[in-house]
Amino acid sequence: MYNHRVLYLTIILLCLFNVIASASTNCPVEVDPTTILSCVAIDAVGLVQATKGNIRGFCTMAERFMECLKTKTRGCIGEDFVRGSLSELIELSQKCCVNKDEKLTEECPFVAKPHCFSLSDMAKTSTGREIPIRDLKIGHKVLAIDHDDKIVTTEIISFLHYENEAQAFFYTFTTESGHRISITSDHLIFVGNRTYVQARFIDPKQHKLFVIGKNGTLQSSRILSIDVKLQRGYATPITQHGTLIVNNVSSSCYSSIHRHSLGHMAMAPIRFVHRAKQILGVPTKADMNPNGIHWYPRTLNNLVHMLGPLANVFTTTGGKI
Ligand SMILES: *[C@@H]1O[C@H](CO)[C@@H](O)[C@H](O)[C@H]1NC(C)=O
Ligand SMILES: *[C@@H]1O[C@H](CO)[C@@H](O)[C@H](O)[C@H]1NC(C)=O
Ligand SMILES: *[C@@H]1O[C@H](CO)[C@@H](O)[C@H](O)[C@H]1NC(C)=O
Repeated sequence: MYNHRVLYLTIILLCLFNVIASASTNCPVEVDPTTILSCVAIDAVGLVQATKGNIRGFCTMAERFMECLKTKTRGCIGEDFVRGSLSELIELSQKCCVNKDEKLTEECPFVAKPHCFSLSDMAKTSTGREIPIRDLKIGHKVLAIDHDDKIVTTEIISFLHYENEAQAFFYTFTTESGHRISITSDHLIFVGNRTYVQARFIDPKQHKLFVIGKNGTLQSSRILSIDVKLQRGYATPITQHGTLIVNNVSSSCYSSIHRHSLGHMAMAPIRFVHRAKQILGVPTKADMNPNGIHWYPRTLNNLVHMLGPLANVFTTTGGKI
């Protein structure tokens, strides 16, 4: 706790310094990281609404979210990481916030349900250690691919879905290189050249999968067979990069969305919160994965709880400075 206080204090000081040093810019005097976070905290409700199909609730929320962040962070310490998530949120509301009489398309990621990886398949750390999807926790560093299709280390930031007991139909792909991965029918998998295709649309004549070869580099491999079978237990871990290497095969974290980039955009608020917590030095709990759909609420609710004690630190110590 002591260390966190020091961190919070440093942030307050930095922020005050910033206010003083940039008196000519527009950073509002009341700005501090809690106000930035309070923008996000209000909005947990809107995000939960969206996952229940109330897109209008989401749109009202998105408007407020953007307004709050824009006015509270202009010229301030949090501005840089806010700017990135703002542009994504604007694009997201353009997809989802249509006029009353217009029909929502699959372009809006909230229309789609998350689907998953098999719990028994393996993610991999940068040191080569393999972790079953079943045991992955928020904060684990695992291999994935980036925008340029290069292997990178990324972090697990959330779980959209985790089911120990429930069954689902899985497509199991076996490649010429001897690799095998199981994903549900709508889950996106990497087929090269920054392209992701849903499992049910994979055509072995047309598509190749990308695997980590013996020399540790990414290489394409032809698909030998596709089996569909019922399996028990699945999970949808979300990484900072939106991708994950599972059983040495490159995959997306998303599903049910025709374009991987849209899925990634929908997760912008989660990435934002995760980053805000890192900056503020808030520890991420690596507890058990309880069953169920988590979507946004888990991450955001944690944040709301965290704001209680944090707000105290600010009013008691912040007042004396
Ligand atoms: C990769 O995709 C782009 C467009 O998405 C296309 O123009 C290009 O030809 C593709 N490259 C290869 C090697 O398939
Ligand atoms: C790794 O192996 C693959 C296939 O065996 C080969 O195409 C590729 O050039 C190799 N990469 C390196 C860096 O050796
Ligand atoms: C992944 O590749 C490594 C090295 O080739 C191998 O030891 C490991 O068994 C593979 N893991 C899976 C799940 O296929």
